[in-house]
Amino acid sequence: MSITLSDNTREEILTTSASLPEDQNEGSLRPKHLHEYIGQKKAKGNLEIFMNAAKLRGEPLDHVLLFGPPGLGKTTLAGVIANEMGVNMRITSGPAIEKPGDLVALLTNLNEGDILFVDEIHRLNRAYEEILYPAMEDYAIDIIIGKGPSANSIHLDLPHFTLIGATTRSGQLTAPLRDRFGVSLRLELYTVEELKLIVKRSSEILGVDIDDSGAEEIASRSRGTPRIANRMLRRVRDFAQVTSDGHISKKVADVALSAMEVDHLGLDSLDRRMLTAIIEYYNGGPVGLETLAATINEDSVTLEDVYEPYLLQIGMLTRTPRGRCVTHKTYEHLGLKDSRTEQMNENMSLFD
Ligand code: ADE
Repeated sequence: MSITLSDNTREEILTTSASLPEDQNEGSLRPKHLHEYIGQKKAKGNLEIFMNAAKLRGEPLDHVLLFGPPGLGKTTLAGVIANEMGVNMRITSGPAIEKPGDLVALLTNLNEGDILFVDEIHRLNRAYEEILYPAMEDYAIDIIIGKGPSANSIHLDLPHFTLIGATTRSGQLTAPLRDRFGVSLRLELYTVEELKLIVKRSSEILGVDIDDSGAEEIASRSRGTPRIANRMLRRVRDFAQVTSDGHISKKVADVALSAMEVDHLGLDSLDRRMLTAIIEYYNGGPVGLETLAATINEDSVTLEDVYEPYLLQIGMLTRTPRGRCVTHKTYEHLGLKDSRTEQMNENMSLFD
């Protein structure tokens, strides 16, 4: 039957929670319980209520959509939900589902109460989404076997499961799919205080010797993102071990991060290239995203999903209907003169 898959194919589209797809070392740093999960107070508070209510009723949790910029812990949170609900989690991603049979096989192999985690769900082929609608709503799918006059439709009941979809771009989901998630949680960039707690927690797990000021230095330069904070911690540890006694102080963190071209606000060379291009070629903006991406030879999706959220948050970039603009703060940070202010002052003086 067309829905069966070879074991090899299964491995490509499915990962169990024992081996998460990202940085393998990250696994040990991932919190397993909600009380260990730092930050995201609003999402966590709501989630706790929904999970407790589902447990009280003896039902699986309603389908959950997690959205927000990359690296904020969507996969981690899905793992926490599975743990707290005491169920297994199957992990796959939108682009890994190459044919309808892949999705059907995933759904029919679930056990009662299981979680199916679909990362980058906005990249799931639109034509296959329709398989998900009855699966999510009625825990059933209808599949057609054969072609032409001999085609046959069979109805398959599925176990009661929870779909957790993760996306960096919820706007790209079709409305029918978005509407079928009973719970929708937006993850926000983390504060420096929250990231500092995450860096300290990770240091303890990894056995890294770090003081308060060192943790704060890494936290304040990791652009609101735990994945970046944990990656920086490992690299700063390398510097600390090779260039001093292994202890991470503010000074050691500063030297290491500066050597990696990460500035005091956490901006890297691509951030600076992007902001400088807006200033040098477009007089501070507005400039359309595609034009900007072409100017600096970068992918527009990467700029929008990975770079912009933090630049917008710290007020270095604004989005207008006519395109992206830098702010006065951007000129100051890059040590450039804001010719727009001079121009405005000159124009104003004409009225004096
Ligand atoms: N590691 C990655 N994200 C985390 C979080 N939100 N809390 C604790 N540790 C984390």
